[in-house]
Formats: sequence, C-alpha cells, structure tokens
Amino acid sequence: MNETQRETLNLELLIRAGYGLIYVLSPEEPRILEAAAQIGRRLGWKVYEWSCLSGLGPRAGPPDPATLAPAAALQAAAKHREAALFIFKDLHPYLNREHQNVIRALREAAQNLPGRQQAVIMTGPVLDLPPELEKDVAVSDFPLPGEEEIGALLDDTAGHPAAGPDRPGDLSGPAREEIIKAARGLTLVEARRAFAKVLVRDGRLGAGQIREILSEKRQIIRKSGLLEYYEPDLGLEDVGGLDNLKQWLAKRKLAFSDQAAAFGLPAPRGVLLLGVQGCGKSVCAKAIARLWNVPLLRLDLGRIFEARLGGSEGNIRRAISMAEAVAPCLLWIDEIDKTFGGQNAESHDGGTAQRVLGAFLTWMAEKKSPVFVAATANNVSSLPAELLRKGRFDEIFFVDIPNEEERRHILAIHLGRRGRNPADHDLAALGQAMEGFNGAEIEQAVIAGLFSAFDDHARALTDWDLTLAAAETVPLSKTMREEVEALRRWCHGRARPASESSRMKAAARLAAKPGAAGR
Ligand SMILES: Nc1ncnc2c1ncn2[C@@H]1O[C@H](COP(=O)(O)OP(=O)(O)OP(=O)(O)O)[C@@H](O)[C@H]1O
Ligand SMILES: [Mg+2]
Repeated sequence: MNETQRETLNLELLIRAGYGLIYVLSPEEPRILEAAAQIGRRLGWKVYEWSCLSGLGPRAGPPDPATLAPAAALQAAAKHREAALFIFKDLHPYLNREHQNVIRALREAAQNLPGRQQAVIMTGPVLDLPPELEKDVAVSDFPLPGEEEIGALLDDTAGHPAAGPDRPGDLSGPAREEIIKAARGLTLVEARRAFAKVLVRDGRLGAGQIREILSEKRQIIRKSGLLEYYEPDLGLEDVGGLDNLKQWLAKRKLAFSDQAAAFGLPAPRGVLLLGVQGCGKSVCAKAIARLWNVPLLRLDLGRIFEARLGGSEGNIRRAISMAEAVAPCLLWIDEIDKTFGGQNAESHDGGTAQRVLGAFLTWMAEKKSPVFVAATANNVSSLPAELLRKGRFDEIFFVDIPNEEERRHILAIHLGRRGRNPADHDLAALGQAMEGFNGAEIEQAVIAGLFSAFDDHARALTDWDLTLAAAETVPLSKTMREEVEALRRWCHGRARPASESSRMKAAARLAAKPGAAGR
C-alpha cells in the first residue's frame, strides 16, 4: 500500500466515523480529489465539488453559478438529502472573522451532516482554523508521496516516448533508488517538474542527475520558508569535552539502519541540549548530522509564526511532513525556549504558540519516521513541562561550563583550527588561566592572541599573548554567576550531564588499572 492509498483509507475512516467537517491539509489538490472520488465510489456516496470560480456542482456535472459564494454553497449543500461528499477547494481565505457567515454555515453543517451520511471535506495548502471551528473540524495531513509513488512517476517520466527515441532513463543499479530518495520531500507535481527539467537539460535521467535533483529539492524546500537545508560545517571532533554526550551519540550512529531495526531497536526520537551560553550546544546539534551521515534540516520556529507563510499550525504540520519525507534526517531546532518559553508562548495571541507546541509534541510522541530532533535551549525555567516529559526526547543533556581538562581540549582544537600546533603551548597553564571560560570565550581568546601576534610583525603566537587575552576577558560565568548557578540547580536531577564528571573519570581509570577486574 502506498502513501496515497493509506491516507485515502484514513480519510475514509474519518468519514465513516461520522466526522462531518474534515480539513485535508495538502498542496496537492489532484491527489485529494482522486482520493475523495475513490471513497465516494466505495461508499456509494455522490461527490460534489466547489470552487470560488465555478460554484458547487456534481463532480462530472455542471456547477450551480448561484453558489459562487461559499456560504451560499454550504447552504445549498445542506439542502441535499442523499449520501454525499462535498469537496470545498481552497476555502481557507474565508475561514476568518470577515466571513462570519461561512464560519456559521460550517458550524451548522457540523451539527447536521453526520446523521445524514454526508461530509464536507475542505482542502487547501494552509491551515488556520478560527477558534469557533477548532473543535468541529478533524484535520488530516495528506503526507507527501512516498518512494513507491515517486518511483512510478520516475519510471513513467524516464520511459516516456516524448523524452526521446531511445528512452533516456538509465535507471539500472542503485541509480533508480537514489533518484527516488533525492526526490522525496517533493510533491508529485514538483517531482515531475524536477525530473522534466533535468531531462530537458541533460537529455537523460540517471546516476549523473542525482545531484541536480537534490539541488532542485533544496531550492523547493528553501522556498517553503519553513525549513532550511544546512551543510554541517563541523564534526564532533571539533567539539572539546562533552564526553557523555558524544558517547551517547556515537552509540546511536547506526540507529537508523536496517540492522538496528532487525535487532529490535526503536529509531531514536531526539535529544534536548540545555545549558550555559557558548558551550557548544548548537555546534553539537549540527555535528550529529555529520556523525550519522544524514541530511541536516533546520526548523526556524520564528518563521512558523510568520503570517505571510500561512497559518502557524498548518506551517508546523507542513514542516514536519517535509522532514518526514526527507527522513532519515536530523531536524535541528535551535533555541527552542525563545518560542515555547513561558512568556513568549503567551505573547502570540489566541494561544497560537500553544497549538503549535501541541502539534509538535503530539508528533514527537507518536512519530515513527526516522526524523531525529536535536533541540537546544538555555532559558530552562520557562520551558513548558510537557516538552520535558518522558517519551518526547530520548535524553536531556545539561551542557555546563567546561572543566579544566575540557578547556585544554577546546584550546587545542581552536589553536589547531587556526594552523597552530597545540604542542607548542603550555595547555595546562593556559587552561588554568581560563578558569570559568566557556568554549566561545576560549575561542575568542585564541583569536585575540593571534591579533596581538599579527600586530607585532606577524610573529609567532606565544603563551603570553594568550594569557593576556584571557586576562582581559571577564567570563560570562562571572558576570552571570547567579543565572549559571540557578541553571545548574535546575538541571541537577532533571538532565544528564553532557560531560563526564571527574569522579566518574577517576572510577573509569581505576577500573582500567591492571588487577581491577573482579574487585
Ligand atoms: N566545547 C566546545 N568545543 C569547541 N568549541 C566550542 C565549544 N563550545 C563552544 N565553542 C565555540 O563557541 C562557539 C559558540 O558555540 P555554540 O554556538 O555551540 O554555543 P551554544 O551553547 O549554542 O550557545 P548559545 O546558548 O548562546 O546558543 C562555537 O562556534 C565554537 O567555535
Ligand atoms: Mg546556540
């Protein structure tokens, strides 16, 4: 069964369960109309369609021009007595206070239709329900097409006679699979356009066109304005310290593989990194994509609330559905507290942030697709409790100010990244001089030291340059001591430390000593 067939069945279940008003969120109208027609045939119900250009009419018959206005169309639908589905195309521009009569007509329909074997199905690419209708409307996400459907489209396109006499599709070996994978996340129409474009340009569709299709997809996803493809610039080897977190991630390196599933392992859901500013949360979150070798998608929560992109709730569903279609992938949500934190959540009116959070949490709890969520936050006190509840993230890590050993490591990384040999420096002494520094401050001290050396006839960097730079820095852990302390207290017991504590390290060393076994 492919995605469309499965979702058609779901829709049929909703109808048979007596939902009178159903909103199908999808940009792909033809797929939904086809699904509705199938359901109509199966149930023996008549199918009517409405659009603002033609009015309401039977699927194959003439529409009634007196029903161009949506409220009039809904009232006309209410007069029908036979079992029927009424498909309303693009009703979303009318679902607001300016069209109170449409909202009212829908509410009345919600009360009357189910008893009569009738349902109104609204379709549109965005979803922004007014509060009056929230309880009455069942929302169905028509997911993007799956591999089977894209595969059928690909075979159709590559083998199409119009594509040339000698059928330019070279879909032997792994090329077919890879092209299909590259096109996942696109609607059928978009995939068809992408295939056609490369076919026209290159005259063929094969392994050589995979990159092109991937780049088409990147553009389309970027245009959605909700998700962004990111190239992970750094790996976990560029992050100093945080050994617990690194081990945890390394253990799950093959988590999305078939072997892991066969072994009985569930796909991991996500990780939440809480902690002090500038300690490597964002860098780590991005680096997971490199470690696991999956695409990195950034979800910009701020954009979810941008009205020009459509309703916020529809936006989050759309973003999730795109990520699911690209899966396995890493969905990076940076600074989740900025959107879902207490005061912020209330600042979006009408509880919109609450609804978006609700949709996100439901998805997190129920999700089966291999989308791994890596979220970061530093203002923990305002995070909603639901987000921290078990079953959402697999693990919550607390990222603290680096300890002395970690500072040495971070220092070595940043010296190395700027072409200096860490062995030329007294890392132990410098690590001590940078007591209380976070990773970002250590990096800044290295850069400031390099500026001093450069300014002095571009001579070699000395420990003195670095010590002076460190002395001129007042670390955040000092200026914001109370906040950092409060954060530590809050995280204690609630989150797992991302760094191995010195006590644990000592125990590990002891256990590794000869003769330690069996003690
Ligand atoms: N553990 C670390 N190892 C190496 N570099 C680090 C480390 N922590 C921070 N840095 C450096 O500091 C910069 C800022 O780190 P990052 O953006 O990951 O911090 P953050 O924890 O996400 O902070 P914020 O809470 O302010 O978003 C990074 O670009 C990186 O170069
Ligand atoms: Mg960050």
